[in-house]
Amino acid sequence: MKFFLDTANLDEIAKAASYGFLDGVTTNPSLMAKEGIASQEERIKEICKLTDGPVSAEALSTDVPGMLAEARRLAGLAPNVAVKLPLTMAGLEATKSLSAEGIKINLTLIFSPLQALLAAKAGAHFTSPFVGRLDDIGQDGMDLVEQIIGIYNNYAYETEVIVASIRHPQHVLRAALMGADIATIPFKVIEQLAKHPLTDKGLASFLADYEKASKK
Ligand code: E4P
Repeated sequence: MKFFLDTANLDEIAKAASYGFLDGVTTNPSLMAKEGIASQEERIKEICKLTDGPVSAEALSTDVPGMLAEARRLAGLAPNVAVKLPLTMAGLEATKSLSAEGIKINLTLIFSPLQALLAAKAGAHFTSPFVGRLDDIGQDGMDLVEQIIGIYNNYAYETEVIVASIRHPQHVLRAALMGADIATIPFKVIEQLAKHPLTDKGLASFLADYEKASKK
């Protein structure tokens, strides 16, 4: 299972790389805005220097000619850029052309299994179901991931599933149990994955016992 980091923050990306948990990065316009970035191209280039894995940069155009031009420009920034397009009819049409040119497309804002089916049929390299946002409206976002994996397995589609909009470690656990290809994870959730109170308690008592014994 691959771990992508869902951020545009360079310190977080460098830290995740030093932990050895950085198989790629996903960004979006909101994550760029959070870093105070108005024009994303320089930041995408900087991120691509920190990882050889795919780095998703989101196009802002909503019409096909705009998406094509923007995606080609973003893909030219570094060899590992994947371009995010929204799952709209325009996004699907642009994906067909861009995938044929060898540009990796990540179809984003996926909220239904049929949207994911269309993404695979259009030739998207990645599909990004947003699980947390479905949870937020009272649905179980991980059910969507299970359905998408089932459909892709039925037809041997090669589109990789990126579980996105992850809010907590349980999302990562369920994604792993379902065999999702990738989880794109906020930095704080990566750190939470390592935490267990019994680990902290056990370590404290091992160190205390050793300290006691060494004073005898
Ligand atoms: C995925 O690629 C998106 O950047 C992200 O996971 C969206 O998450 P959010 O719902 O927390 O904004």
